[in-house]
Amino acid sequence: MSKNTTIFECSNCGYQSPRWQGRCPECSKWDTFQQEQAPSAQSVAVSKAAPGKVINLAEFKDNQKTKRTKTGIDELDNVLGGGLVQGSLIMLGGDPGIGKSTLALDAALNLSKSGEKVLYISGEESAIQIKDREGRLNKNIPLDFLAETNLEVILSTLEKNNYTLAVIDSIQTIFSNEVNGVTGGVSQIVYATNALMKYAKGSSTSLVLIGHVTKEGILAGPRTLEHMVDVVLYLEGERYGMFRLLRGVKNRFGSVGEVGLFEMTGEGLKEVLNPSAMFLEGRSSGKSGSCVSVVLEGNKVLLVEVQALVSKSSGGYPARRSSGFDANRLQLILAIMQKHLELPIQNFDVYLNVAGGIKLEERAGDLSVVMAVLSSFYNQAVPDTIAAYGEVGLGGEIRQVSSFDKRKKEATKLGFTKTVSSKEIKSIKDLGNYFR
Ligand code: TYD
Ligand code: MG
Repeated sequence: MSKNTTIFECSNCGYQSPRWQGRCPECSKWDTFQQEQAPSAQSVAVSKAAPGKVINLAEFKDNQKTKRTKTGIDELDNVLGGGLVQGSLIMLGGDPGIGKSTLALDAALNLSKSGEKVLYISGEESAIQIKDREGRLNKNIPLDFLAETNLEVILSTLEKNNYTLAVIDSIQTIFSNEVNGVTGGVSQIVYATNALMKYAKGSSTSLVLIGHVTKEGILAGPRTLEHMVDVVLYLEGERYGMFRLLRGVKNRFGSVGEVGLFEMTGEGLKEVLNPSAMFLEGRSSGKSGSCVSVVLEGNKVLLVEVQALVSKSSGGYPARRSSGFDANRLQLILAIMQKHLELPIQNFDVYLNVAGGIKLEERAGDLSVVMAVLSSFYNQAVPDTIAAYGEVGLGGEIRQVSSFDKRKKEATKLGFTKTVSSKEIKSIKDLGNYFR
């Protein structure tokens, strides 16, 4: 006979472990483990229920397909896969101050203007503050507003009114009387998101949840929320820079990887119509430690500048810092360069920056990282007419990346008449032609 076993659960993020631990390996919080009783195989008694109603999907007619509502912001509609899906839950994440409220308010105003029922719920700002922002957007459209943080009040307001869209700004401020835990804590957030998801599924309302991203780039606590919602969008960019990139990282109703590009102006976020060169603004020519990369974001080709600063290390462990590029990948690329170019990079500090606040996640960016580092190391500028793209393998080989011609065409159009890619060179060793 099997006996009940004991498990330990983190009260912050729900991580389970067979042993007590001082620090949670998932959320890094201290002293959060509590003893719980794990159900044994025998104690899991499955109660009887009536069978569910099975339907045949072929019986659905075309006009019964998911209904979408356009927000009137084309870039947002594209990232959503063609507009807001009725009864869906959308998470809009991003750093504080990046423009999440501005974007959500803009979409809400557009829908309200086209006669849809829309509610903007804010637990962060007062009606006056929202009105103020609305004034900046210069639209002068009536919009229903609710200043509320209590989940139960929000749910009953939603139930009563049957909105097309409700924005909840932000999920971190919502609390429920039904669960313990501090406002903004994982248990409150998870509970509220679950309850809102349940509401959305049973209604025709699309819900947009705004969520602040912590420094680690994680939506408050573990990534649990990403699994729960239908769509996850991130708004990225430099807070004090102009450009914003809206990235779809999960979409149950469309393709992911689509991006929308915006510019923050005095009148809110404006869509950028000719985006390929936007991240090159402010680039100074003839400087060492810089190389332009040709990256693909969704169906858009973007040219971005990778900057490197390589300086003699003052001893000890050399510094490796990276902004806009994965720090582990940078370590790997430096190790490849050390091995295959016999570069004494272990004696140098390396700082990497992707200009414009964009996150360079595509492997095609590898080659420009190598070139920017070499350029700074030899203090020799990469010519202005060169753009690079290619994945760098562990053997130093340059691997081909997708949409080759599309990248080449866009780069040429913007004056980068020479490209460095897997077509021109086979290995990073061949970069000797470009550097001493
Ligand atoms: P906000 O939408 O409040 O950011 P979030 O909700 O992500 O925290 O926008 C923050 C910044 O945007 C703020 O610093 C002011 C700036 N902004 C403009 O530059 N122009 C505008 O028209 C608006 C509404 C905001
Ligand atoms: Mg806000």
